[in-house]
Amino acid sequence: MRIGILNSGGDCPGLNAVIHGVVGAADQLGWEVIGFRDGFEGLLPPGDYTVLKPKDTIGILKLGGTILGTTNKGHFAAKVGKGDIAEVPPEIVAKAKRTMEQLEISALIVVGGDGSLTTGLQLYREGWPIIGVPKTIDNDLSATAFTFGFDSAVSTVVDALDRLHTTGESHKRVMVLEVMGRHAGWIALWGGIAGGANVVLLPEIPFSFDKISDFINDRDAQGYHSTLVVVAEGAHMPDGDIVTIDANCAGEVRLGGIGERVAAKIQQLTGKDARACVLGHLQRGGSPTSLDRILGMRFGVMAVKLASEGAFGRMVSYQAYHVDSVEIEEAVHQLRLVEPDSELVQAAKAVGICLGD
Ligand code: F6P
Repeated sequence: MRIGILNSGGDCPGLNAVIHGVVGAADQLGWEVIGFRDGFEGLLPPGDYTVLKPKDTIGILKLGGTILGTTNKGHFAAKVGKGDIAEVPPEIVAKAKRTMEQLEISALIVVGGDGSLTTGLQLYREGWPIIGVPKTIDNDLSATAFTFGFDSAVSTVVDALDRLHTTGESHKRVMVLEVMGRHAGWIALWGGIAGGANVVLLPEIPFSFDKISDFINDRDAQGYHSTLVVVAEGAHMPDGDIVTIDANCAGEVRLGGIGERVAAKIQQLTGKDARACVLGHLQRGGSPTSLDRILGMRFGVMAVKLASEGAFGRMVSYQAYHVDSVEIEEAVHQLRLVEPDSELVQAAKAVGICLGD
């Protein structure tokens, strides 16, 4: 039997661990693995792919990015904006299907986020043998408690905050760190708590600059002259606006720029020096943490198990310390957001973190 794997959407630490898991588990079954390059694009004639054998995956566990390449634009980009879904045109699907048939692919493992899994779902509904593997540093897929890549992104945030602490304290400044996460605040919340941030601003919790400046002034009065602020790129300004750069080629809005706005307003209101730092794609690069390596590998192994059972249309999922699976259609179009009244948010508040509300 021959199966295919592709990575689609933004890259994410741990993608190579999934490939490692898939190739290892498939080899045990005597199956051949075809790795398609640059996401679904690799399926277009004449086909851009490579045969992956266990020897090809030696040493990749520790590598960030993906040895197969990926893209979040091109012929198969399924999302055109927040909540909007576009179908892949029939002529593109037909071309890709020819490659699947010529290569006699019996299962196609699609490793991607909400947009790529939406494409996978469309193909499954059109009869393709699709298995989904959830991937996103944002950790915002409702059908899985964790995705690989999130832990690595949070580690990068924590490392950045550790550094901002020292320069902020030396200059008695307010340091604002803008982090990724799109419309979900998970990276900001986890990174902010673990990195000792004093203020954490999330898309899910409306904030007011008066609350933040009062908090910073109180800290000053208590002798704490430096304040660390983490702001999620998708947080809403008090007037309800999200701050964007532009729309990328797939039509998905590019978030970014709120850090500077927040720093400028805090400086204006408190009279304290404030500086902004945008962490950006550093959060997506570099070696995966051990947790992401193990999670990615387990996801890959589970994907092969699902293929062996003919459980197409299902997506690997992680719940309660256990790797299992759910229907892809239950998994897409439903963002898992931070709940403002959750125990995690309450815990952050209990240790004195200001959420701006
Ligand atoms: O979804 C992952 C993510 O890194 C988001 O956190 C971020 O908003 C977006 O992708 C950035 O995408 P791009 O790499 O296209 O700029």
